[in-house]
Amino acid sequence: MTAAQQPEWPDERELKSALEELAALPPLVFAGEARSLQSALASVAEGKAFLLQAGDCAESFADFSADAIRDKLKIILQMAVVLTYAAGMPVLKVGRIAGQFAKPRSKNEETIGDVSLPSFRGHSVNDDTFDLDARRPDPARMVRAYHQSAATLNLIRAFTKGGFADINKLHTWNQEFVAESKQGRRYEQVARDIDRALSFMAACGIDLGEESELHQVDFYTSHEALLLGYEEALTRKDSLTGDYYDCSAHLLWIGERTRQIDGAHVEFLSGVKNPLAVKLGPSSTPGDAVALAERLNPENEPGRLSFITRMGADAIEDKLPPLLQRVAESGHNVVWVCDPMHGNTISSDKGFKTRRFADILNEIKAFFAIHNDTGTIPAGVHLELTHESVTECLGGAEEVLDGHLEQHYQALCDPRLNARQSLDLAFDLAEMLQS
Ligand code: PEP
Ligand code: CO
Repeated sequence: MTAAQQPEWPDERELKSALEELAALPPLVFAGEARSLQSALASVAEGKAFLLQAGDCAESFADFSADAIRDKLKIILQMAVVLTYAAGMPVLKVGRIAGQFAKPRSKNEETIGDVSLPSFRGHSVNDDTFDLDARRPDPARMVRAYHQSAATLNLIRAFTKGGFADINKLHTWNQEFVAESKQGRRYEQVARDIDRALSFMAACGIDLGEESELHQVDFYTSHEALLLGYEEALTRKDSLTGDYYDCSAHLLWIGERTRQIDGAHVEFLSGVKNPLAVKLGPSSTPGDAVALAERLNPENEPGRLSFITRMGADAIEDKLPPLLQRVAESGHNVVWVCDPMHGNTISSDKGFKTRRFADILNEIKAFFAIHNDTGTIPAGVHLELTHESVTECLGGAEEVLDGHLEQHYQALCDPRLNARQSLDLAFDLAEMLQS
């Protein structure tokens, strides 16, 4: 069976030793948490909550600090507040975080000028520096990725359960450089409205201190299950149920490049009980979708399987309806999620990989409209974004123009929405959810 997109590890012994080390390390998540996420996803599938799955395209060994983790969390919490408040919809929060270190690539080599080197495959494989030595796959990087994931997850748990995500802290999630912007001020207004609603409830005699939902947040982790050795080494038998769980994250997804029905990624993930997702690009046929649903969710459990469609704003009208119709006819229970990023990647005049905010928004709008037509549920979005003030995607209310891209372009892999663009998008999304 073929495992697509696996690195060519140069040294078998080094690989074996890294995988043995990983297999002996504690799991990062507990099976019970993966089950809670699956039931939350089941309610998302019914349209009773909305999924916000977001984070970096690729996490970085270089950008690893308490402040960065806190600020990544802030922007997702802010977006969730906007969606919850403006659309009156509970939001299920899942990060592309604490494990998103491996990247599939369309080309095995990257060429700059007349030099060609092996492509960068994520920090759990090699380094992004354009240098032969840096691009050599090193299995010890998987162990480092595990430890960074553990520390990241630990801090996320502390922040979400230890007071930082308390509803009374709404104002502190607005980072300074965001607060000054139009979107930041709009967010402040929402935060003030919520404050007033809380004061009103307190004045009515409701003991808000007792309501744990107001003081803690459930936040789940996810990444692309690309490196099968790593995922397998972190797969453990749950002592409560006897089932196997991939304990590297709560939710794992299969990428557009590794979703072959007879491929090793589908085979491996069919054997673990975590909630799963599959990315479906414009080449996906209705037959592919039904076959994947049969294979990955034979019991048709609600919340077990999400399809993350990433068609591109131009192709979605053509490509999405037949998938929705066939899957609906087959009776398969699926959580439909829109990734408006990966089908809308373009190259700027100066050769920067970028995306237009307008295309991103248009794909989401079309996603809602098409689901509305077929009577299916537009259950969530999957976004690449960052808390930082980067200039990687074009457009947005404070417009990033072509000439700005070179100013703060830090993406390791794909271009991300910056914090203001992300908040902008949250307000637009809230309007779509309202109607
Ligand atoms: C990604 O999510 O970063 C990615 C590579 O997506 P896709 O598999 O949809 O291309
Ligand atoms: Co990406």
